[in-house]
Amino acid sequence: MSPGISDENRKRLGRINRNFFLHIHANKVHPHSLKSGYTFGLGVILGFLFLVMILTGVILMMNYTPSIERAYNSVKDIVFVVPGGRYIRNIHRWAAHGMVLVSFLHLIRVFFTGGYLAERRLNWIIGVCILVVVLFMNFSGYLLPWDQLAFWAVTIGSNIAASFRELTDILGITQVLDIGGFVKKLLIGDDTVGQAALSRFFMLHVIFLPLTLMVLTAVHFWRIRKDGGVSRPTEQTVQAAGDDRVREKFYSWPVVMWAELAILLLTVAALLVMAFLFDAPLRERANPDFAENPAKSPWYFLGIQELVSYSAFAGGVIIPVLFLVFLISIPYMDREDGNIGTWFSGTTGRRLTWQSFGFSLLTTLLFVFIHIRYGWFRSWFPDIPQVIIMLVNPATLSALFYTIWAIWIKRRTGSSRLSAIGLFTCTMTGFIIYTAIGIWFRGPNWEFYWSSSQWPVF
Ligand code: HEM
Repeated sequence: MSPGISDENRKRLGRINRNFFLHIHANKVHPHSLKSGYTFGLGVILGFLFLVMILTGVILMMNYTPSIERAYNSVKDIVFVVPGGRYIRNIHRWAAHGMVLVSFLHLIRVFFTGGYLAERRLNWIIGVCILVVVLFMNFSGYLLPWDQLAFWAVTIGSNIAASFRELTDILGITQVLDIGGFVKKLLIGDDTVGQAALSRFFMLHVIFLPLTLMVLTAVHFWRIRKDGGVSRPTEQTVQAAGDDRVREKFYSWPVVMWAELAILLLTVAALLVMAFLFDAPLRERANPDFAENPAKSPWYFLGIQELVSYSAFAGGVIIPVLFLVFLISIPYMDREDGNIGTWFSGTTGRRLTWQSFGFSLLTTLLFVFIHIRYGWFRSWFPDIPQVIIMLVNPATLSALFYTIWAIWIKRRTGSSRLSAIGLFTCTMTGFIIYTAIGIWFRGPNWEFYWSSSQWPVF
């Protein structure tokens, strides 16, 4: 026995070091990393959801046929003939939606605790890439059942991909340089959703995107180790807050394993309950001649679909690209590394988060209200050039107001962290509002309705 390390602790070290899977953990963790109110276990939940998706996905693949003649019936077979097939499909579906939702929650947690600061900048950017892959993995799976819901959701998605056309139309160059058409064709392999789209989406869904996600997740986990584990406040911050307790790191085995096992069991239990109570939708077989009205994209793209209804180029290209650029640039906008590991960077940040939430709620709803109640420039001045509507609409005005708000915070406080908190809160609030409108308040012809019970009967 080497001095300073007991037999018991040596055993703990061995458990982690000799096991290929457990080696993902450091030998010792800081007690702060296990605080449930810090990470909420969201990253671990994501990891487990991904594993569940792979496992159930492989089982589904045994019975699924990616051809437009057979896909629908093969899914029907899975639901009605294959023993347990319905539940496997339900679990796969709810785990997929869960991954999108939990990815956003994890991103929000990491942002508000300053988990992207200092050496964790790179891991934040890897995280943003993961988010994009998770969205596309979900979207590519959406088409596979080949029912009306799938077909029209992906048709809408592919039209959003062609949003560049609004700009090229305004410039009068679509005939020679149809960027929107190119992007759409790249996505679905044809002018309309058909066999080419199904083959592409299948390959993306079962091979390319899961492999990409595996690699990105592996790098993500490796970075967490290299960055010294989960973020936590610096010693100076803790002492400045009047806390002099010395917190020793402790051996990962067995405490971390118990914590992870508990999260795994809760995640699986939640999925089983969901799968038992709610069936994954399966409508009639896809019919390209009978359009769904309203045709809605998957829920996580409905915010973008709402923005596209104001202006295709602004909503489908400018705003999503700006949003991604903003997410990636957050760690470079905010360089106040001392704020790492503290929720909202303290009381001022917490207050500012609420203020930013209120500001975004008011401005966003105001623009949406004007648009719905009074129409927009096109209804007031029918001959107005489209370029003005493209540049000035609820989506671009919201983005402009959020930016002004963030600049104002920077001027007032001199803090780039608080300014980033302001912009992030406004953007996320706006994103949620536009998504909620798309999900609950849009009916046939993308008209506003308080409830789907008011939808006209055709
Ligand atoms: C498949 C998806 C993902 C998985 C499996 C995953 C997993 C994890 C895990 C296990 C942690 C350790 C702490 C925790 O549990 O919260 C973590 C931390 C982190 N994640 Fe993720 N993550 C994913 C997606 C994302 C996304 C979308 C972002 C945001 C852009 C992100 C950014 C980060 C960063 C910067 C850290 C370090 C934060 C800190 O130390 O406080 N991750 N992730």
